[in-house]
Amino acid sequence: MKTKILLAGLGLCLLSACSSSSEKEFDAEKALDYCDVQVHRTLEELKGKNGSIDYTMMPRNIMDSLNTWHCRKATKEEWCSGFWPGILWYDYEYTGDERIKEEAERFTAPLKFLSETPAFDHDLGFLVFCSYGNGYRLTHNPEYKQVILDTADSLATLFNPRVGTILSWPRNVAMFGGHNTIMDNLMNLEMLFWAAKNGGNPYLADIAVSHADKTMKYQFRPDYTSYHVAVYDTLTGDFIRGCTHQGYADNSMWARGQAWGIYGYTMIYRETKDPRYLDFVQKVADVYIERLPADYVPYWDFGVSDISNSPRDASAAAVVASALLELSTYLLSDKGMNYRRVALETLKNLSSDKYQSRKSKPSFLLHSTGHWPAKSEIDASIIYADYYYIEALLRLRKIEENKQLF
Ligand code: GLY
Repeated sequence: MKTKILLAGLGLCLLSACSSSSEKEFDAEKALDYCDVQVHRTLEELKGKNGSIDYTMMPRNIMDSLNTWHCRKATKEEWCSGFWPGILWYDYEYTGDERIKEEAERFTAPLKFLSETPAFDHDLGFLVFCSYGNGYRLTHNPEYKQVILDTADSLATLFNPRVGTILSWPRNVAMFGGHNTIMDNLMNLEMLFWAAKNGGNPYLADIAVSHADKTMKYQFRPDYTSYHVAVYDTLTGDFIRGCTHQGYADNSMWARGQAWGIYGYTMIYRETKDPRYLDFVQKVADVYIERLPADYVPYWDFGVSDISNSPRDASAAAVVASALLELSTYLLSDKGMNYRRVALETLKNLSSDKYQSRKSKPSFLLHSTGHWPAKSEIDASIIYADYYYIEALLRLRKIEENKQLF
């Protein structure tokens, strides 16, 4: 059954901010059908000439000038390996196609080693919760549960109780001059909360709350824009400085960093029901939304000079759309409706011919920026943009069908 959303029908246009363009329909199922087509194209491409797939090689990006996936081996250093299995799980959730489920299982399995080896860095949540986490949610396979629990314990070894946060990049302590915690790290707390509730050590949730609180206190400026990196004294835990790694400047708002913050504190509110986080995340979201360009897809950093000639970051837009859909369910007010409107407008724009890859490439989306200072993955298709795009579409569909998101 086609589920279509008519924004005017939702009464969203009671909001003064509601533009006339919002009255148009957005068809989440059409976009999900498109994702399914692109998933099949990618699987065909991965089969290669001999017809067999190397399940340890994960699609990572397609540069602007290219039209086939660049794949990377699932090693401890490759932070993006969980997204492709996660996309397959989401596509299986949508289609119920058993062949997609089998491919999801095959691409998930090579990540098991992460539960059996010492933590390399904080990205274990991205790696294991997007893959095994979605796999467990949909199958209840007990082996998947054990992998998640063991990986959560591994992630917890990076927690420094003197600082109160997880050390995001152990390899970069000397470079930053202390214990570094990056905004992205909030995303990995979801796996700790899950483990604490599902047979793991309850202390894992305490770690997550401690990390969330310290990050809230030090990693945001008075206007609620975020530093990509917070550096703390390893021994005393004192905050030393905020700076950037992937953003434009130490004092600028890196779009994806802010997106991780919006998603992160929405999830932390879900897990704790502590109203401090609900209040905080609205401020973090509002400063991002206020500064968006007309099509709701941010330039890669809000502080860049000559911004209109800068590349966009569709991945940040997809992360925020997914987060705002969830946030809207916690706010039964005009504010919640406005967050849902922003998410819908974002998804509508991401689903246009400007941002969808369509026939040109097997990815879902174009125009993401990975690491501009390193001149890496600029204006490219990147696998995590696709992951959060399909996640957002599925969330929208559940909201339309009055189903619980969690
Ligand atoms: N977690 C790294 C990034 O967002 O690019």
